[in-house]
Amino acid sequence: MKVANSYIFGIKPYVPGKPIEEVKRQLKLKSVIKLASNENPYPPSPKVIAALNKTAGNINRYPDGGCFVLRQVLAKHLKVAENQLIFGNGSDEIIILAVKAFVGKGDEVIIAKPSFLIYEIAARLAGAKIHEVPLKNFRYDLQRMKAKLSKRTKIVFIGNPDNPAGTYINAKEVEDFMKTVSKDTLVFFDEAYFEYVDAQDYPDTLKLMGKYPNLMTSRTFSKIYGLAGLRIGYGIGRPEVVDILNRLREPFNVNSMAQVAATAALSDQNYYRRIAKEVQQQRQYLYRGLEAMGSKHETSFTNFILIQVKNANQTAFALLKRGVIVRDMTAWGLSNYIRVSIGTASENKRFIKVLGEVL
Ligand SMILES: Cc1ncc(COP(=O)(O)O)c(C=O)c1O
Repeated sequence: MKVANSYIFGIKPYVPGKPIEEVKRQLKLKSVIKLASNENPYPPSPKVIAALNKTAGNINRYPDGGCFVLRQVLAKHLKVAENQLIFGNGSDEIIILAVKAFVGKGDEVIIAKPSFLIYEIAARLAGAKIHEVPLKNFRYDLQRMKAKLSKRTKIVFIGNPDNPAGTYINAKEVEDFMKTVSKDTLVFFDEAYFEYVDAQDYPDTLKLMGKYPNLMTSRTFSKIYGLAGLRIGYGIGRPEVVDILNRLREPFNVNSMAQVAATAALSDQNYYRRIAKEVQQQRQYLYRGLEAMGSKHETSFTNFILIQVKNANQTAFALLKRGVIVRDMTAWGLSNYIRVSIGTASENKRFIKVLGEVL
């Protein structure tokens, strides 16, 4: 078939995880748990459910294309101006908009390897030359990233913390890096797991935007806020950067259920603080379980953990047969790692027990 855009064939299609119901049917299992997509295992706040019920009767109307109410509430929550915000169909869309806005054919994009897959997919689609800089001990190697900067570099993507490693770069490292980057290169900080980070030296990128006009940040309602199924995320940048992205955005890119759910979620911070605490405690529980069986793992600042195994493919399949879905990281070039999302206390207990049997 003739296609206009030849670089499409350079893109590996995203392979989604198997849905729970399908795994149950295929493997004839009664109970299956999914610890594969870094979702929040808890339901959204009751305030979110109530807001959704109230809105359901109005979905004959188009959504508010400007996210008027949510914009006000979020701007106040983040202490930024309303024109510093852009909303997307998940933060994925913000990443894609940034590439569409700033990257043309033959331009250069710098990413880490392994890293969140959408950076590479979006850059390939734009026909960019991609510099993949390997992680060093599962952390960003900013020195090598610096060495790749050139006049043609349009975006540097920094997942902070990134997926799949779960590690972060600190405030000093960010400042040292930003100082060396041309103002014509956008440095895109993806903070999808921001609310899970419990580190004193984590950078405040919203503050840094005052000093560095070429810095922007994305965050999401998919992770801690548990709205992955509704698809809503946002970007924060200087008004002039946000204005550029906004011109490319589809008028109704964020649906009305997502907008009311996100607004209600922001009003129940206590609920989500409890979840963050619970995830941090469960992370420690999983570390103890893994260490007790001699399994090596990375230290994570997110709601997932990268675990070393002999053979990722075999381990993931053995776990699947026992009703536990995890991510086999072979497609990320990590054929001896699985990635496990932190579930509820009972899910994590079951995972540790089953992993012990499998190993
Ligand atoms: C690092 C990172 N960024 C962004 C996203 C995308 O999140 P969203 O659901 O907001 O599109 C994910 C989701 O897994 C992620 O791991």
